Amino acid sequence: MSTTSSDLSDATAAAHERDAAHVMGTYARRAPVFVRGQGTVLFDADGDSWLDFLGGLAVTVLGHSHPAVAGAVREQVGAVQHTSNLFLTEPMLGLAERLARITGWDDARTFFANCGATANEAAIKLARRHGKAIADDKVRMVTLDRSFHGRTFATLEATGQPEKHAPFAPLLGYVDTVPFDDPEALTAAVTDQHCAVMLEVVQGEGGVRPLDPAVLSAARAACDAHDALLIVDEVQTGMGRLGEWFGFQTTDVVPDVITLAKALANGLPIGACVAHGAAADVFGPGDHATTFGGNPVTAAAANAVIDTIEGDGLLTTADVRSRRLTGALDGLAQRHDLVAGWRGRGLLLGVELTAPVARHVEQAAEEGGLIVNAVADDVVRMAPPLTVSNAEIATAITTLTQALDTALATHDA
Ligand SMILES: Cc1ncc(COP(=O)(O)O)c(C=O)c1O
Repeated sequence: MSTTSSDLSDATAAAHERDAAHVMGTYARRAPVFVRGQGTVLFDADGDSWLDFLGGLAVTVLGHSHPAVAGAVREQVGAVQHTSNLFLTEPMLGLAERLARITGWDDARTFFANCGATANEAAIKLARRHGKAIADDKVRMVTLDRSFHGRTFATLEATGQPEKHAPFAPLLGYVDTVPFDDPEALTAAVTDQHCAVMLEVVQGEGGVRPLDPAVLSAARAACDAHDALLIVDEVQTGMGRLGEWFGFQTTDVVPDVITLAKALANGLPIGACVAHGAAADVFGPGDHATTFGGNPVTAAAANAVIDTIEGDGLLTTADVRSRRLTGALDGLAQRHDLVAGWRGRGLLLGVELTAPVARHVEQAAEEGGLIVNAVADDVVRMAPPLTVSNAEIATAITTLTQALDTALATHDA
């Protein structure tokens, strides 16, 4: 189904017309207009339901409308909704303390932002401030090819996807991009003029591509050798999605700074830049700010997310469900001509296709009631909630198989 499809209901078609009339055209919309969600399921106004294996782009880690999050938000929104950072609020303090605990960094300090890009903007400014305290020209950064760090002007350049740069060039010229799988190239790229290396442990938007541990080690060593900060962008990999709180905890490498957003408040807009060691003390009063940062309602939601993941043992569940899902994908790879295998970790998985028909699979899956997305021409991303059930995994695999059959039959695969 597409937004131009003739089988849209009148209400859905009208919603798309209103969107086209008065919302800027930055998104290629998909057809359904959702009015309700519960767990892994979304419902539209016509009463149709979808199994959501995308979670609002790897966000709703507890599923839709989780009662703990809904309850925390309801309570906080009725207490105090906003004070600005001129004043302290308890939810923000509690969240900063929780983040220190689950990172394992006793001395962690957090700057609260509003989304992934603004968490990364904070990290980029922090790294530059760190660099300039050493030398005035220590402001460059190294990032990896096909990385995704956001769409603001600084994070756009850090994003290693030149096709996204072109319409806005010239950019700031502060980033050196290296291949994502070449530790020697990374080592060679980092110099005394670099204040940071920024990378993802598993590149989400870049095609669900896990980083070679040798690249991570090379990044850590190069940062140590040149007094640069290692920033791990955990916007997509954080909050249990890979089976640990944070992606870096699935590796041997400890970054100086991590950035969070997406799942942190299960869908309420929030971002966080968490630093430890000397990096935690780089910013001083006036160096950085944002009106909504640490907002008590979003912070209360994030506290509920952390408490629920802990209380319900969802890191372990994520591992168990991941094994169930990847086992099923192994089976699919053996019996379906269109499936080469899978990649990723935990519940951030990419189904690798043998032909560039991922968009057709995405569309056919949606018509069958399953939401996934094509994250590359030949990769379909799955990012279900940590709360996904075995029965939902079985249904998703059945629908995906039918979608693969359709793609195989109707397109020149
Ligand atoms: C790894 C990573 N960093 C940053 C971002 C940007 O986050 P936001 O869209 O909240 O600005 C994303 C979004 O997909 C992401 O996956």
